[in-house]
Amino acid sequence: MTSQTLREARRYEEASSKMIKIEDRPGFHLSARTGWMNDPNGFSYYKGQYHMFYQYHPYKTQWGPMHWGHAVSNDLLHWEFLPAALAPDEIYDRDGCFSGSAVVLPDGRQLLMYTGVVRNPEWNGGYTDVQTQCLAIGDGEDYEKLDINPVLDEKDLPEGASRSDFRDPKIWKGKDGIYYSAIASRPADGSGQILLYSSKDALTWKYESVLAENKNRFGKMWECPDFFELDGKMVLIVSPQDMLPQGFEYHNGNGNLCLIGEYNEETKKFMEEHDQAIDYGIDFYAPQTVLTPDGRRVMIGWMQNWDTSQPHSPYQQWFGQMSLPRELSVKNGRLYQHPIREIEDMRSNKVAYDAVSFEGMMSLEGVKGRKVDMELVIRPGDEQNVFKKFAVRFAQNDEYYTGLSFRPYESVLKIDRKFSGSRRALIHQRRCKVNSENGNLKLRLILDQFSVEVFINDGEQVMTATLYTDMAADGISFFADGKVDMDIVKYDLIG
Ligand code: FRU
Repeated sequence: MTSQTLREARRYEEASSKMIKIEDRPGFHLSARTGWMNDPNGFSYYKGQYHMFYQYHPYKTQWGPMHWGHAVSNDLLHWEFLPAALAPDEIYDRDGCFSGSAVVLPDGRQLLMYTGVVRNPEWNGGYTDVQTQCLAIGDGEDYEKLDINPVLDEKDLPEGASRSDFRDPKIWKGKDGIYYSAIASRPADGSGQILLYSSKDALTWKYESVLAENKNRFGKMWECPDFFELDGKMVLIVSPQDMLPQGFEYHNGNGNLCLIGEYNEETKKFMEEHDQAIDYGIDFYAPQTVLTPDGRRVMIGWMQNWDTSQPHSPYQQWFGQMSLPRELSVKNGRLYQHPIREIEDMRSNKVAYDAVSFEGMMSLEGVKGRKVDMELVIRPGDEQNVFKKFAVRFAQNDEYYTGLSFRPYESVLKIDRKFSGSRRALIHQRRCKVNSENGNLKLRLILDQFSVEVFINDGEQVMTATLYTDMAADGISFFADGKVDMDIVKYDLIG
């Protein structure tokens, strides 16, 4: 039975989303149907389509009582909205249906596991959350919450773990036929840990182990875990709150962290070997992955960051986009990301220039646009005397531009969106240390109206940022201090 709260939300989103013009949305990134969107939820392949649910407050472009929005796609680039899937309408989730994930049951129905939130007011005007894990079962459009909810609560926590920070279950079916769920938790040391639970039928759950511990190394509380096998390694993805920067890593406050290592089946513990940021730009948080039918591990993140998302333009009717779907691999112990290959089907109007030699400012005939896939191979024009700086500007006209600049002597790539149309004093720059020898660098930029994602050296690193630039600013130009040689291939992304 659909509750009154969910019926209201569905009626509201249907009417309100009709007022948003298609050209005021990104072309191929999923955006909030109306109102506010944060984390990807329940990212899955079900009944021949990809499903993406998301943290959703339909009534405002601000975070509020969390619903689950819902969209489906055949290629992860063209999305169709479905009615909202969950609303905060039960005693155990009355203040929000927080993040979670999805799995298919043996009988063909889809199971959602999410965090139910009850917010108890305190005498001093604050509140304390009680967070529990809940289930809903459905057919890909309508979902019924189970009477046995919540299925995991404070009784299922290990000693010292907080009942206020227990959320974001990521569920999967193991090779042993058992269902597992990795859930974020705050232990007594005040930082974060990931707990592992198991179930034979996906309905009755039991605590297994502390899968991984932060011990105050990478930020505080860890949110939104994902745990999977990739290229013979185990990968644990989390989004830590309150991070301190370490060198060129982890500059985002609310950051993202990829740990690569091994899993010990006996102790049910993850053993870390390597850590890195997932995205070195400004806007990326809470990613989730799916395994495609042809065996690719594809990740989508919320293309925002809590620190830069609160004071946004009041003129928009929607806020929040998802990142490009990115194919993941592990090479030389590091995480690599590639734009999903389906994007190549959207390429048209190829413009290519080989070995363009230049110094100073330059633009090239046919190189412009706001929905663009552009590959740049940069080399020194004079190997004995390597250039001091290379820069590319895009979303550019007399008033606006966003820029990437590369200084080979420091091996630093910088993104700067100060002139991207933002009317707020947010963070607009980020630097990333790249691998570059003697001024050689490979960049692939994907622009989609309101964002740029920069894939560095064939996906070794990625920098992502949202833009607020007027669509009239569609210029692209280049700059070199010293002699640069550049190959460029550029496509419009259409359809
Ligand atoms: C991460 C997060 C999750 C939580 C959700 C609430 O961005 O804080 O931990 O489930 O957002 O909307």
